[in-house]
Amino acid sequence: MKKLIAGNWKMNLNAQKASALALDILKGLDDELPLSKVCDFVVFPPCVHLPPINQVIKSSEMKMALGAQDCSQHETDGAHTGEISAAMLADYGCTYVIVGHSERRQGHGETDAIVKAKAAAAHNAGLTAVICIGETDQEREQGQERDIVSRQLLASLPESSNAVNTVIAYEPVWAIGTGKTAKAEDVAAMHALIREKLSGRSGSSQTPRILYGGSMKPENAAELLATPNVDGGLIGGASLKAEQFLAIGRAVRDS
Ligand code: PGA
Repeated sequence: MKKLIAGNWKMNLNAQKASALALDILKGLDDELPLSKVCDFVVFPPCVHLPPINQVIKSSEMKMALGAQDCSQHETDGAHTGEISAAMLADYGCTYVIVGHSERRQGHGETDAIVKAKAAAAHNAGLTAVICIGETDQEREQGQERDIVSRQLLASLPESSNAVNTVIAYEPVWAIGTGKTAKAEDVAAMHALIREKLSGRSGSSQTPRILYGGSMKPENAAELLATPNVDGGLIGGASLKAEQFLAIGRAVRDS
């Protein structure tokens, strides 16, 4: 399966800059050896920018996919002020949605049960859920990373999950936006654990893609993306510059 290169733009960029970034990425995907032949690309702009970015992507023969950074756990329209349903995201051309990012688990009190409900809502709307899991620095210092990640994974996966509608993003919280990247051997160990849990759960060799996230950038992407069981990257800071985001795709193509 192709590696998935995913750009999480978080709460950044005004409308004009967001469209310009999408256009620059799409132009870059057309270079001498088209990057979209070797990797799948998806960007996750802030919600209000989804309609214009959807137009930009549509006018470029859909060379990358569109996703949202979150969705409601509620599936039926109604009195949920501020919420956006997965079905509404699908209406605006999204095919992916991130759920359970650590910034939502920590900053917005999202539990595994909420993340699971959001992932189930995403599946029911036909979206692929990118379910984020990862330990804090304190949990790693106490040697709890395997237990924490196993618990988050199994408690956040809905019954409806399969290899097509689900992607797991392993993002050690201490590596997000800090410039500290996990060592390749630690990434390999955590991804092997996640793969083992996923195959145990489904009883099949077909398991969801597992992305690594946390300060991935052009300089470390080749090593991280060549690590066993790493099927792509969830990229924050470096996805806000087209050149850096594309360079991460080139690291896969040229390796
Ligand atoms: P970062 O963010 O690449 O800036 O560390 C990754 C993420 O939060 O998904």
